[in-house]
Amino acid sequence: MKDALSGPDPREAAFQATVDSEGKIEPKDWMPEAYRKTLIRQISQHAHSEIIGMQPEGNWIGRAPTLRRKVALVAKVQDEAGHGLYLYSAAETLGASRDDMVDALIDGRAKYSTIFNYPTLTWADIGTIGWLVDGAAIINQVALCRTSYGPYARAMVRICKEESFHQRQGYEILVDLCQGTAEQKRMAQESLNRWWWPALMMFGPSDDNSPNSAQSMAWKIKRLSNDELRQRFVDQSVPQAEYLGLTIPDPDLKWNAERGHYDFGEVPWDEFMEVLKGNGPCNRQRMEARRKARDDGAWVREAALAHAAKRAARAEKSAA
Ligand SMILES: [Fe+2]
Ligand SMILES: [Fe+2]
Repeated sequence: MKDALSGPDPREAAFQATVDSEGKIEPKDWMPEAYRKTLIRQISQHAHSEIIGMQPEGNWIGRAPTLRRKVALVAKVQDEAGHGLYLYSAAETLGASRDDMVDALIDGRAKYSTIFNYPTLTWADIGTIGWLVDGAAIINQVALCRTSYGPYARAMVRICKEESFHQRQGYEILVDLCQGTAEQKRMAQESLNRWWWPALMMFGPSDDNSPNSAQSMAWKIKRLSNDELRQRFVDQSVPQAEYLGLTIPDPDLKWNAERGHYDFGEVPWDEFMEVLKGNGPCNRQRMEARRKARDDGAWVREAALAHAAKRAARAEKSAA
């Protein structure tokens, strides 16, 4: 039972005052345990998404149509690895261990973005992923640059700069395809048809079904609601699709002058729930590839640790 004389924890009030005044919480500052746990979950899920997200695009590195496209794609996939590493490091500042986070991913306890459980069937998918998936990531992440936890907010600033390169390289692929032959344009349209709804799912369930949002908003580790972010994405993407001459596969999509936004149809949430449960088209394949990569790399990690230990022992000996 709480001591009636002690009242509310003054550290909690100071913490909330910092958050309310747009100050940053740093690793050594006091923070509520639930804030720490929620952030570890959010940041590690974000890190896992970056790492798993390398797979669908890695699938096309060996088949990129030109050297220039290959170089850009290699650089992009490498950037995603870097994003994963910044984010694992940001989570480590909260006391999480990298091994535990990776174990949670590998055992299927941790989640990552459902979008990466869809296959990349054509070259146009590489364009569409850059345009829509990185585009959606930017909308999420620009909001997170103002998040209350310092290391996370600072990682986001750098990540956003790289994401905007990713989005442009993807959009440029689609511009070329849409200005190319009829067959290339059909390939682009078919790709958009497959990726549009999964991209809208990237913002998570609608606000009525998003139970943790209110607390996360008060802590400023979430700055805009899922539905607000999704609306921004739709408003941004429609003119981009028009420029390409592509049709967004939503018969309910139309400009609403009164709201000053596009209205759009219902996201297929049943599909989202299935993919989230592990039953998407590529969930098993993605996890298997991740597991194999960890097993194949085990000897490198062991050798690096053995080498570091040997150097430390040698340094200690020469100091003595
Ligand atoms: Fe990324
Ligand atoms: Fe990206």
